[in-house]
Amino acid sequence: MPEKNGLESYMKEILSVVIPTYNEKDNITTLITEVHKALSGCDHEIIIVDDNSQDGTIDIVNKLAKQFPVKLFVRRDEKGLSTAVIHGIKQASGSTIAVMDADLQHPPEILPKLYKAIQDGADMAIASRYIKGGGCPNWGLFRRVTSKGALMIAHIFLPSSRRVKDPVSGFFMFRPEKVDLLKLKPVGYKIALEIMIVGSFKNIVEVPFIFKERSTGQSKLRPQQQIEYLSHILSLMSRTGEFWRFVKFIAVGLCGTGVNEGVLALVRTFTAWHGTIQLIPGIEVSIITNFILNDFFTFADRRSGKIGSFFGRLLKYNLFAAAGALINWGIAALLFNNAGLDIYVANIIGIIVAFLWNYFFSTIWAWK
Ligand code: GDD
Ligand code: MN
Repeated sequence: MPEKNGLESYMKEILSVVIPTYNEKDNITTLITEVHKALSGCDHEIIIVDDNSQDGTIDIVNKLAKQFPVKLFVRRDEKGLSTAVIHGIKQASGSTIAVMDADLQHPPEILPKLYKAIQDGADMAIASRYIKGGGCPNWGLFRRVTSKGALMIAHIFLPSSRRVKDPVSGFFMFRPEKVDLLKLKPVGYKIALEIMIVGSFKNIVEVPFIFKERSTGQSKLRPQQQIEYLSHILSLMSRTGEFWRFVKFIAVGLCGTGVNEGVLALVRTFTAWHGTIQLIPGIEVSIITNFILNDFFTFADRRSGKIGSFFGRLLKYNLFAAAGALINWGIAALLFNNAGLDIYVANIIGIIVAFLWNYFFSTIWAWK
């Protein structure tokens, strides 16, 4: 326990639980009751932000507000999960803010565990499906794959999201003073990702939870949300400089193509080797020049100056880029021979796949 300094009564800890709702009449009563029960040991307020539900949710919440510490905000001219959450955060008076769904997929009994993590010193606590003890046992293959895909995209293109295993969870708690709310510009569903990347959190902790089946009502997740997610990733990439890094990587790749062709021309001038062999020096030389350019330019902020680690990175890069060249060749040959594609089109597809392969290993391995 910290020493008392007389300020305790001014620094009363309140937990604000922000819950966005849209047509959740069958869930909201159980949810509010359970949240209130789970938090019976601490001061809390429950902030519901509803986007003008037409199913009676608003009336039910108004009634519940007489019995529970509930504040309701109804937005009539705006819609969207993330903006609703931000609206709620702006109305919150707590020194800690929780965000959760209204459909009971986020079990309220996890709230005290998240709050404990915050009180133990974390400035953000994320309820995680992807650490030991967590999961989504009821998901079908499609949802599982799309969720993991979303997660991988975040981890590849936004390196700071790698601090946690589940940056795309919708259930979390944080200290509001760590984020400048004016800087939040989320699109779509992934508000935790936005807050985590825009905020300046020092200690993020994950608490496992099981993502329950939706008991009633419908998920509002549509293909539109998946497109919004990609545009959200692009927006975060451009705000954190990661988009610029990707553009640099493309520029280096184009330079490498020039180097590769140039060396090929030289080799063909000075040797009478078989064409298959004549291709090899250009590939290897361009792998090395690409590596050097990426090391000093694209990933300059993530390189260590030590000479040993320079060669370590070079070795790694050489390994996956050589595999990348094989992939390029394999895909192009397959599409040309077996799918009857035009050879240039087949090659472009091979190049794009190999390019993404190289970026993936560059960002998660060589310059992680
Ligand atoms: N105010 C408001 N406005 N609330 C909304 C809106 C909206 O436009 N759309 C959805 N909600 C509310 C729902 O009523 C529910 O309480 C919560 O937001 C989540 O909506 P669901 O439609 O149930 O989302 P989900 O279960 O598909 O997605 C959840 O899980 C994902 C993890 O896979 C969310 O928590 C996502 O943030 C999370 O990434
Ligand atoms: Mn849901």
